Amino acid sequence: MYKEPMSHSSPSYSLAFIGAGYVGLVSGTCLAEIGHKVILVDNNEAKINKLKDGHIPIYEPGLEDLVKKNVAAGRLTFTTSLAKAVKESTVIFIAVNTPPQANGRADLSYVAGAAREIAEAADTYKVVVDKSTVPVKTGERVQQTIKQYNKHNIDFDVVSNPEFLREGSAIDDFMNPDRIVVGVENERAAKIMREIYAPVKAPFIETNINSAELIKHASNSFLAMKISFANALAKICELSNANIDQVTYGMGLDKRIGKSFLNAGIGYGGSCFPKDVSAFITIAEDLGYKFDLLKEVEIINTEMRELFIQKIEQALWVTKGKTIAVWGLAFKADTDDMRNAPSITIIERLHKDGAIIQAYDPEARHTAKEVLGDKVEYMSSKEAALKGADALVILTEWEEFKNPNWEVVRKSLNNPIVIDGRNMFDPKEMEKRGFVYHSVGRG
Ligand code: UDX
Ligand code: UDX
Repeated sequence: MYKEPMSHSSPSYSLAFIGAGYVGLVSGTCLAEIGHKVILVDNNEAKINKLKDGHIPIYEPGLEDLVKKNVAAGRLTFTTSLAKAVKESTVIFIAVNTPPQANGRADLSYVAGAAREIAEAADTYKVVVDKSTVPVKTGERVQQTIKQYNKHNIDFDVVSNPEFLREGSAIDDFMNPDRIVVGVENERAAKIMREIYAPVKAPFIETNINSAELIKHASNSFLAMKISFANALAKICELSNANIDQVTYGMGLDKRIGKSFLNAGIGYGGSCFPKDVSAFITIAEDLGYKFDLLKEVEIINTEMRELFIQKIEQALWVTKGKTIAVWGLAFKADTDDMRNAPSITIIERLHKDGAIIQAYDPEARHTAKEVLGDKVEYMSSKEAALKGADALVILTEWEEFKNPNWEVVRKSLNNPIVIDGRNMFDPKEMEKRGFVYHSVGRG
């Protein structure tokens, strides 16, 4: 049910965040920004030392200034000592990662570990909030774990508060969310959560813990389904000489469908959609429901990378020995995150087949190197990547790729061939410019 957020005069709280990653660092800093006192905890000492020295370990627009501002205001500190942070805080957020295991199920060992350590350290009433994306019914297990290790026999409440942050717009997504979701089992915890989020003007949904956990997996899986639906349509457009841009535009004007998340291309990646879809399939299975619809979402997404590799092979015939310029490595624009990036599958195949890859990404050079190593020559600019290449392949829709100097592109390439995985350009315009242009779902 919808409850008006409390007025801004509500109290500020001492909060601890376990896990200073993409979610913990952004959420913790934003909660400090709205007036709370936040201690960020991480068991990665190097990461904590970097943060103490004012270095931000991830690329997220606007984050560096916000961290610096709140550290200077004394609202944000960093530590590796979970026990200390728990003792000094009333509300403890668990934001450790829940990586997928080989069988698709989420690895909850870090969540379980954090819950145990919180129980061992807590010596007064605490609210333990699960921010990480977890399978439904995890809240019950966190409750059991805290009861089991509750050294000081404290009174506590467990809450689910899933995050809906998109990388690259995470701060705005936190400060201006479509909704705040809180799963609680009593009014005492609900009141504290309302007060914590009071300064954030957005629909505040109070529900039970299991429903809150499901809202997260259901939302991400539905968004992934929209993307796979658009990509399946793109294949049909290619077979029927239709244009996916026109089809999804026509669909999206229907308010019940909406235009967002219908962009066809090489498919979704990142730390969430792949993990959450595979987790949701196994969660449903463990509950006794075969979620075949989601299995198809995964299959379509995987196929898009294969299809794109075929487009490159069709354009170049033989890739062995060819030099390929790649613009973009990150799983999407405005992030340095390479987790499940489509570029990994595509580049590893091209490299295996003997192609030479010259790649440029504005932010993901360092993270890409950790994954792709010397399979790629990392260039310092988009123009440098083009030099002597037999084709240009676009894998991430960075703003700086949107208006290149096409004369420079043509002169630098051995052949005027562009294979675009993010449908950044208009096919007719590219033809007029004298390029052989391949993209996804455009006839
Ligand atoms: C988060 C959520 O955990 C995940 O469920 C959601 O789907 C995506 O966002 P994320 O913040 O992206 O994951 O993970 P990551 O960037 O890996 O950060 C996790 C942090 O927790 C790391 O810095 C890691 O060092 C830390 N950690 C992990 C701990 O401090 N203790 C642990 O026991 C495990
Ligand atoms: C997503 C959810 O949007 C966010 O609410 C959740 O908290 C975390 O997971 P994120 O993974 O950061 O956020 O990025 P998002 O912008 O959702 O894009 C996910 C993937 O889908 C990217 O690989 C992107 O390239 C792809 N995508 C997105 C498409 O292929 N087509 C689209 O139309 C939109």
